[in-house]
Amino acid sequence: MILDGSDPASVRTAAQALRRGELLGLPTETVYGLGADADNDAAVARIFVAKGRPSNHPLIVHVADAADIDHYACEVPDFARRLLQACWPGPLTVILPRRAGVGTAAAGGQDSIGLRCPSHPVAHALLRLARDLGVCGVAAPSANQFGRVSPTTAAHVQGEFGEGLLILDGGPCEVGIESTIVDCTRGVPVLLRPGRISRQQIEAACGESLRDQDALPDAAPRASGTLEAHYAPRAKLRLMDGALLQTALEVLGPEFDGGRATIAVYARRPLRSPLSKVLYRRMPDDAEAAARELFAALRAFDAQGANLIWVEQPPQGPQWEGVRDRLQRAAAS
Ligand code: TXA
Ligand code: MG
Repeated sequence: MILDGSDPASVRTAAQALRRGELLGLPTETVYGLGADADNDAAVARIFVAKGRPSNHPLIVHVADAADIDHYACEVPDFARRLLQACWPGPLTVILPRRAGVGTAAAGGQDSIGLRCPSHPVAHALLRLARDLGVCGVAAPSANQFGRVSPTTAAHVQGEFGEGLLILDGGPCEVGIESTIVDCTRGVPVLLRPGRISRQQIEAACGESLRDQDALPDAAPRASGTLEAHYAPRAKLRLMDGALLQTALEVLGPEFDGGRATIAVYARRPLRSPLSKVLYRRMPDDAEAAARELFAALRAFDAQGANLIWVEQPPQGPQWEGVRDRLQRAAAS
């Protein structure tokens, strides 16, 4: 059932459901989450079952306010505090050392915990109300089946989990790709997942240079969003530079014509196609706009019956890092 998130009575109904240990689809500025009370291990276990996600993959815990992190984190380094001050509420998740015995299921057995304070007004209202009812944090991974494209509308969430799930509708997500994740448990900030908040913003905020996961010797904590193959549409997705994509259409396209396969093209440049049927959609020139519509575009191609999705490689600029990352993972599936 979908409830209107702009109605305070709906937000109350949703907060009460969380309090009772039920699952809830909730809006955030990045993507929709599948939430449960982070301190209720049985409720959190239902998230893993519903998503088909391995239970040792940790979830992000959402809080109403930066002051609430002390319930979950036992230590907050100074650089992490500076980062939170600059970027919260907003599309940033920090990994911090976890307080023993708290959020155990949500942390998937790690001794750390992922925390985020979202800026979406409906998420914020929900988290505050839930906190008043005794729910200190809401564990919520993206509200999609494991490995699939994250949802950016309430209808996407319903498509993933059916009519039985209570969903709070907060409109289409403004950011469109998942939060930037920074691991703050290793003495220096380490980027685990790129997103709207860029490397430059993180470094400016914490006054430290940001390390890359791959450049560090020790094993990374398990992170679904960092698996090589993830965020995949049903159709096979391939990334190509614009010229190659044009050639592929001209050379290979006719082989697929006549109903053998439906090709979808997602490109910033207009392309000449010899095909009678090709699903063309223009990728925005602006990185933030491209991120906002990326997952909805992939879902729309799936819904239109595309078998192949050929995507023009996005530009190299730093503001495109999040979009490049999601497309590379989708292409690896
Ligand atoms: O934008 C977002 O972050 C969305 C919305 C709903 O807030 N959530 C989201 O959750 O993307 P999910 O579960 O799909 O991705 C969470 C990522 C995963 O890659 C997870 O493994 C990682 O965060 N993560 C969470 N806690 C962690 C921990 N303690 N250590 C390492 N990675 C962690
Ligand atoms: Mg996810």
